[in-house]
Amino acid sequence: MVSKSQRGPGFWHRQLLRLDAERAHDLAIRAIGLAGRTAAGRGLLRRRFPAGDGGRLSQELFGRTFQNPLGLAAGFDKNARAVRGLAALGFGFVELGTVTPKPQSGNPKPRIFRHPAHESLQNALGFNNEGMEAVYRRVGANYPFPFPIGVNVGKNAVTPLSEARSDYEALFRRFGRVADYLVINISSPNTPGLRDLQAPDQVAALLELGRSLTERPLLVKLSPDLDSKAAVALAGAAVEAGAAGIILTNTTIDYSLIPGVAAPGGLSGRVLARRSFELLEAVAAELFGRTVLISVGGVGSGEEIYRRLRAGASLVQLYTALVYRGPRLVSTALAELGGLMERDGCRRLSDIVGADVTRG
Ligand code: FNR
Repeated sequence: MVSKSQRGPGFWHRQLLRLDAERAHDLAIRAIGLAGRTAAGRGLLRRRFPAGDGGRLSQELFGRTFQNPLGLAAGFDKNARAVRGLAALGFGFVELGTVTPKPQSGNPKPRIFRHPAHESLQNALGFNNEGMEAVYRRVGANYPFPFPIGVNVGKNAVTPLSEARSDYEALFRRFGRVADYLVINISSPNTPGLRDLQAPDQVAALLELGRSLTERPLLVKLSPDLDSKAAVALAGAAVEAGAAGIILTNTTIDYSLIPGVAAPGGLSGRVLARRSFELLEAVAAELFGRTVLISVGGVGSGEEIYRRLRAGASLVQLYTALVYRGPRLVSTALAELGGLMERDGCRRLSDIVGADVTRG
């Protein structure tokens, strides 16, 4: 039997999937942003996409209530144009960005490619965004939102690596009071040299800088292309230096995952699921209980959310599955998750988070 979260796309969604991927994305953001602007529009979204059992799925983290553990991953609403609409689709939280200090247009188009047979995307966007002042104006005017938001930050492409620190400093200052958590993004494959910052001393220095500028939780987002040992060491160094959480993972440049695919860009979606899960297990074996783990990469059903939670993630995010399955995925996946918890006699998320962790 096909479960609800596996169902195919509806009419409007099918039309979007016929367009160029980036154009479809812009239209989707515009539509969700518009619907989210008024109480009537949000009510309509909520009725169409009901987000299930708030009680069983809710938890306190970072001093905020997360109504459910499923969030929208960074990169979908880079410029904070659709936050309220996205929450009305049922997401428990939304991660904005990646935001850079100055606006930048990113890499030449086309730069998002679909691999539908693999339910995967390949993107080489390169942090196209309106810059921190524009995003700050939108976020600051509405903060705090009735649900948690993260702001994911990165350096401008033109900033030399040796001056990356000053970009992150500007970003920590800008968003230090208007985000429920901040994410240091050093794992995008589309900004040359960025991944070189994935070294324990560099990460520790950025975290120390951040901690001197903001009291909000600072998280680090890692690449799936680190080998597991290096990822565990890096995550450990980050937690040592005061990181409140680790997000695993960004997109991969392991092109062997899809036959015939080549650079540029990073792959996301179903082909990433296995590696993302492996890294979660490896990092949880060392760090579960000492930090908050957020799992992302190839999640597309309530069953997979359940598996990630049991493996040690307190929160789970998705992006690519939303593109292929459409907005109904959020409510159906949450209903599935609630059903699995009920089946297993779990009344609270804390009954399952980390239940399958095996200590290293
Ligand atoms: C992303 N992702 C991403 N991550 C990030 O930290 N900053 C960003 O700006 C972006 N931008 C972005 C654009 C597009 C088109 C995609 C598909 C992805 C990565 C994303 O947040 C996530 O880590 C991966 O996509 C893996 O999750 P899914 O897509 O497999 O659910």
